[in-house]
Amino acid sequence: MSYNIALNFEDGVTRFVSCNEGETVLDAAYRAQINLPMDCSDGVCGTCKGACHQGEFDMGEEYIDEALTDEEAEQGMVLTCQMVPSSDCVVEVPVASSMCKTGIAEVTGTVAEVNLISPTSIELKIAANDDIAFLPGQYVNIQVPGSEETRAYSFSSQPGSRELSFLIRNVPGGLMSSWLVGKARTGDEVTLAGPKGSFYLRPVERPLLMLAGGTGLAPFLAMLEHMKTSGCELPAHLIYGVTNDDDLVCLEILDRFAEELDNFSYVTCVSGEDSSHPRKGYVTQHMDEAPLDQGDVDVYLCGPPPMVDAVLGFFREQGIKPNSFHYEKFAPSAPADKEKVA
Ligand code: FES
Repeated sequence: MSYNIALNFEDGVTRFVSCNEGETVLDAAYRAQINLPMDCSDGVCGTCKGACHQGEFDMGEEYIDEALTDEEAEQGMVLTCQMVPSSDCVVEVPVASSMCKTGIAEVTGTVAEVNLISPTSIELKIAANDDIAFLPGQYVNIQVPGSEETRAYSFSSQPGSRELSFLIRNVPGGLMSSWLVGKARTGDEVTLAGPKGSFYLRPVERPLLMLAGGTGLAPFLAMLEHMKTSGCELPAHLIYGVTNDDDLVCLEILDRFAEELDNFSYVTCVSGEDSSHPRKGYVTQHMDEAPLDQGDVDVYLCGPPPMVDAVLGFFREQGIKPNSFHYEKFAPSAPADKEKVA
């Protein structure tokens, strides 16, 4: 028996290691040639301190209070030299990946499909040549073929498959958009580096509010697919806002989730003045149906910076403090790593 441990580094890089039954995270990482911070490896110095809010594990009783206090342990802090997982876990490592002699992983793949699903949105499907582990909601940097540049895109497919999909805004004149629309052919090779990002689905323990702007819908598709697979029954409500009617895509997929997931609902809204959509305006104007439950809700928000800022302002003004708030801003044509800010 072994468990998948996602090591989430401070610089946004995530590396996955396999941890054997009874093995510590520190040792499992070391086997994978990842040198996590450590000094004593005996639970004495506290150098290996990280955090784990996702997964089951045993910390034993060998470590001392100076290394990890009871209060820290209650808050989810862990010592990787003592932590023995009994399920898949996500461990936050408070240093950059380069400090641990590791970095972003690269996987090659080939273009399987490029579909212009609306004038403004492209669905890209890639067949990866190797397994690529990621958490639902994370992104990769995809190199634009024929250039040195990369662009960051969230997976819209769920983890566990080499058939990867992405939802990409069709930016007129954009480097990736131009390649996808004008040149890409089935079988073309692409290189992906990742996964990255701290915008990923945490354990679902209370109602979820999902707020998507434009192609910021992509990570939610991966999350919803994961929730469906894992049999999640807690309420989840998505508000999906776009600028123009043409920008609304993947509605048939959302309809399917609404049928297949017991407590999932969604609404769409369009902000453009020319829109004929029945629900006009910005996401923040349609929060009345959202399950805010006086803050007993986990909020996930992904969209362009003005939308994210508007939603953050909305919560501030309303004085609502959700149990947790996770957000990611993106700008459709910026170089990778500048467009994704978690
Ligand atoms: Fe010293 Fe873990 S390495 S407490």
